[in-house]
Amino acid sequence: MKVLIATEKPFAASAVNEMKTIIENAGIELVLLEKYTSKQELLDAVKNVEGIIIRSDIIDSEVINAASQLKVVIRAGAGYDNVDLKAASEKNIVVMNTPGQNANAVAELVLGMMVFMARNKFNGSTGTELKDKTIGIHAYGNVGRNVARIAKGFGMTVYAYDPFLKPEHINAEGVIAVDSVEELYKVSQYISLHIPATPATIKSIGYDLVSLMPKGATLINTARKEVIDEAGLLKLMGDRDDFVYIADIKPSNMDEFNAKYEDRCFFTPKKMGAQTKEANTNAGLAAANQAVAYLKSGIDKFRVN
Ligand code: 3PG
Repeated sequence: MKVLIATEKPFAASAVNEMKTIIENAGIELVLLEKYTSKQELLDAVKNVEGIIIRSDIIDSEVINAASQLKVVIRAGAGYDNVDLKAASEKNIVVMNTPGQNANAVAELVLGMMVFMARNKFNGSTGTELKDKTIGIHAYGNVGRNVARIAKGFGMTVYAYDPFLKPEHINAEGVIAVDSVEELYKVSQYISLHIPATPATIKSIGYDLVSLMPKGATLINTARKEVIDEAGLLKLMGDRDDFVYIADIKPSNMDEFNAKYEDRCFFTPKKMGAQTKEANTNAGLAAANQAVAYLKSGIDKFRVN
């Protein structure tokens, strides 16, 4: 039996070593494909494996069809929009994620990027502080909750909107639950996005909604680029010279953002929210354990299809 770790953006070597131990101790062979540059490499690697562990790597129907022995795909991370769930289900392949395991890493990056931009990219000019500012958490899941915790440490007032949670649940954590997404944007000088990319959320963050934010507002996107209506956001940045956009996922039209609004936008060169040794270890080990538990005992906790 074989499990493939296929990561275009690899885990830390120490995490891979620990994953190897878990997998090999279960009598399963580990196959490693890191930093691959073509889809063909992935198609070749999946041929004879029963399990695949991935990050943002694309598992589409072509990959699924090439993997004739495949039983389980583990997305070491939260978002699984990179996996074709329908194609997997049609072949009785179980797909799981590892929710929460990289959440703190993403949340720390959110606050780090906020400080960076509030201090004008550390260019020495006078900036602003986060203390006493308002932040709205758009979707109060694992990452949103960690952002709230750290933002409170900065002395920010934290609001959240999450249609899937009871307001009491949010309020109990010292966060003010609001009733509508519009209200969240109205009260928040900073908005941190933590919604998944689904048919309902794709392009849902656009001109009308973001325009509700107060003067001097900043939008932070460590979720997915697809949730942004980029044309609408570009128009907003043109209309409002007080508006700042920060993202850990480059927009499709990044060059236009940078050419026109360089001082007011920042994009990490490569998506790096979950790229810490701790997050790699947490998510990688959880993925290895889940792969073994499914292949050896049929346990499918955190199944998403
Ligand atoms: C996630 O969904 O877990 C994050 O977006 C991290 O993705 P990555 O594993 O590609 O860094």
